[in-house]
Amino acid sequence: MTVLVTGGAGFLGSRVCRALLDRGEWVVALDNFDPFYPESIKRSNLADLRGRGFRFVRGPARSSGTFSGGAAPRPWSTRRRGRGSRPP
Ligand SMILES: NC(=O)c1ccc[n+]([C@@H]2O[C@H](COP(=O)([O-])OP(=O)(O)OC[C@H]3O[C@@H](n4cnc5c(N)ncnc54)[C@H](O)[C@@H]3O)[C@@H](O)[C@H]2O)c1
Repeated sequence: MTVLVTGGAGFLGSRVCRALLDRGEWVVALDNFDPFYPESIKRSNLADLRGRGFRFVRGPARSSGTFSGGAAPRPWSTRRRGRGSRPP
C-alpha cells in the first residue's frame, strides 16, 4: 500500500512515515516546509527516511498542481490511472 502523509517532514509526520516504512508500506511525504520551524529541522527529520519505498514531495497539501509534472511517485501514478481516482 502507498500512504500519503501530509506534513511528512514535521515532528509527527516524519515519525508516522518511519512507522509506516518499518511496516513495509510505501510512503509519500508531502510538506510545504512552512516557516513555523526552520527548514533545517525538517530536512533533518527527513534525512532518516530516504531510501527504498520513500518519496518526498515539496508542496502545499491543498494545491492540485503539487503532484503534476511527474512529481507523483510511480506506484501512486499507476494506481490513479488504473482507478481514475483523485489523490487522497
Ligand atoms: N520535541 C520536539 O522536538 C518537537 C518538535 C516539533 C514539534 N513538537 C510538538 O509536536 C506537536 C506538533 O507537531 P507537528 O508534527 O504537528 O508539527 P510540525 O510543525 O512539526 O509539522 C507539521 C508539518 O506540516 C507542514 N505543513 C503545514 N501546512 C502544510 C500544508 N498546507 N501542506 C503541506 N505541508 C504543510 C509543515 O511544514 C510541517 O513540516 C506539538 O505538540 C509540538 O509542540 C515537538
